[in-house]
Amino acid sequence: MTQQSHSEPVRGATAGARAGLGLASKVALTTGADFWHTAAIPEAGVPALLVTDGPHGLRKQSEGGDALGLGDSVPATCFPPAVGLGSSWNVDLIHTVGTALGDEARAEGVSVLLGPGVNIRRSPLCGRNFEYYSEDPFLAGTLGAAWVLGVQSRGVGTSLKHFAANNQETDRMRVDVQADERTLREIYLPAFERIVTTARPWTVMCSYNTLRGVAVSENRWLLTTVLRDEWGFDGLVMSDWGAVNDRVRALAAGLDLTMPAAAGDDAVIAAVESGALDEAIVDTAVERVLALVDRATATDAGRYDTDAHHALAAAAATESAVLLMNEGGLLPLEATALESIAVIGEFARTPRFQGSGSSQVVPTRVDSVLDAITELAGTAARFAPGFRLDGVADPDLVAEAVTLAGSADTVLLFLGLPTAVESEGFDRTGLALPADQLTLLDAVADVNPRVAVVLSNGAVVSVAEWRDRAQAILEGWLLGQAGGSATVDLLFGLATPSGRLTETIPLRLEDTPSRLNFPGSDGVVVYGERIHVGYRWFDTLDVPVAYPFGFGLSYTTFDYADLALDPSGDGLTVSFTVTNTGDRAGAEVAQVYVRDVESTVDRPVHELKGFAKVLLVPGESRQVTIALDERAFAFWSVREHRWVVEAGDFEIRVGASSRDIRLAGVHTSPGDGIPPTLTGMSTLGEWFTHPIGGPLLAEAFAAAGGGPGLGDVDPLLLKMAAGAPLTKLAAFSPGMTGTVIDGLVEAVREHTFRP
Ligand code: BGC
Repeated sequence: MTQQSHSEPVRGATAGARAGLGLASKVALTTGADFWHTAAIPEAGVPALLVTDGPHGLRKQSEGGDALGLGDSVPATCFPPAVGLGSSWNVDLIHTVGTALGDEARAEGVSVLLGPGVNIRRSPLCGRNFEYYSEDPFLAGTLGAAWVLGVQSRGVGTSLKHFAANNQETDRMRVDVQADERTLREIYLPAFERIVTTARPWTVMCSYNTLRGVAVSENRWLLTTVLRDEWGFDGLVMSDWGAVNDRVRALAAGLDLTMPAAAGDDAVIAAVESGALDEAIVDTAVERVLALVDRATATDAGRYDTDAHHALAAAAATESAVLLMNEGGLLPLEATALESIAVIGEFARTPRFQGSGSSQVVPTRVDSVLDAITELAGTAARFAPGFRLDGVADPDLVAEAVTLAGSADTVLLFLGLPTAVESEGFDRTGLALPADQLTLLDAVADVNPRVAVVLSNGAVVSVAEWRDRAQAILEGWLLGQAGGSATVDLLFGLATPSGRLTETIPLRLEDTPSRLNFPGSDGVVVYGERIHVGYRWFDTLDVPVAYPFGFGLSYTTFDYADLALDPSGDGLTVSFTVTNTGDRAGAEVAQVYVRDVESTVDRPVHELKGFAKVLLVPGESRQVTIALDERAFAFWSVREHRWVVEAGDFEIRVGASSRDIRLAGVHTSPGDGIPPTLTGMSTLGEWFTHPIGGPLLAEAFAAAGGGPGLGDVDPLLLKMAAGAPLTKLAAFSPGMTGTVIDGLVEAVREHTFRP
């Protein structure tokens, strides 16, 4: 299969193909031609498209390369993976990275970049967390949308993945996710929904897993009812690689393109011929493939500036690291005092800058911390590796590091998770750093307490057991190919840390919400913590954490003031002022959380509904305005089967993390104005408090006669009866017969009917 040339726009070239294709050709278009290409039908003028991983760089494999071979692709800029990039909380930056990725894709003739990954980090153990943005769906959706808009602004498509409820690697290709609908609607679907409705990705990639008993690739509710009918998705749904078990069932569910090349054309043709599969379904899938071809082949090949993209990767990395601790202002260090600094840890020389698996790119170049220090100071750093990357303890390396540490004023200690510990394809079993690295930390801290730890890891590691041995911790995540120079800029104060946690760092794995239900067993995983994922769990139950969601230090400080809440239409405009009160320029990430003060359903104590990153010079103040829409106040009602906003008070909390609320005010919402549905099985309490049902019920009581008026009933009795369904009155209350009750239900239905 040769690659489609993108130098000549051929928009509309497939128009003629639509009418003339025979069934066999149409069916052939619903699967790939090989590992990375869609099928071509040259006689009908339909070219093949090249799709490529994603998301933090291109993994375009060389022609003839082993399809599964990692590390076998053309060089491309390795931007920080989502665990880093997301920690920037910088929507504009992520959009810019997206445009750069789009330019690289165009230059390489790639039509669709397989990303972003917006699955929720349900457990810190998930081996693929580095590829996902957050434990919070609003944040993941907002950042993912920026990425999609950036890539697609260059005429290159994206594939929003992995849709949906793919939150672990253990048994990922079949595990049955048992999550209730509210949990799906509030936690696992909204990031996809936000991106589909605001950024219109060209394609969506279905996940491998099973959802509530139905393989996602065959799940019509997910792929058609929710994605297309409710959210209005009009692009193409492709499968994750190898996710389809049965092409007929997948097509019927709304999956247009099975990837990669799959057998089974005969079975699809036979199903159409026997009438088991409506040919119109194949036609629709083909229309979507051809529409994608039309869109994609309209791009031109281009070039990109590798130096400029490396510089952008460095800027992104600088915003991605999170300063967790900085006792006594140990950081930043003086660049002039380099002789007095010991650089310890193999990661300073051999950086770990991306995760393992399908997202792995071959970088155009890689900055190490050691190189960057040498460049900054013009003299080589005093370095000892301290440990081996294979985790085998090496006392000689520790001894060497201790000698170096003992002779230094300050130690920069580079610790983290080696590649073998976390990857696509499997989950971790614990949160701890490797034991040999903790031994090294202890030994170094014994001779020199001025230790700044810099971490390299794709997912959260525990810090509680060792942080008292350090004075500073810079959480560097995986920072992409320019992470070394970015880290040095941060350590030496050429840049101010501005990353914030997109995931809570717990004190212990035992404290995490999915602890008893991850990764499941017997092929089933029950999302037993329901909507209480991440900070929703920790904050609602007030569980102590090491560092809360949204947290991150700076070299400067910020004040918040002047909260104003301005109801506007269905939503609310929140404004406040942020001031840089320190003596360095720096960026603050101001976060808006909404707390439903009183609700008829259980809700997390608060949820992130807005944020803004503001760069301020010393003394500068800026007014920040954040618009909250109606959804910001809504929960998914299982009973009503829709988003519901209840009338009442909502506390608007503005702060620097989920546990550092600086301003709060109350917004009284009129609610969405839609009265709840009442049936005979609705309780008396629900009837009494209903705007239409309440008066009707009181009237019926009065008309039933014999008994006291509602106002005269013993309040204790009323309280006892409040939980009983209306129909039960027939057994207890003379006069409230089945006919009267049916009449009440009908009367309410007439009043509240909405077509
Ligand atoms: C991964 C996808 C990836 C695809 C193609 C799958 O195993 O789950 O994220 O896009 O392979 O490499």
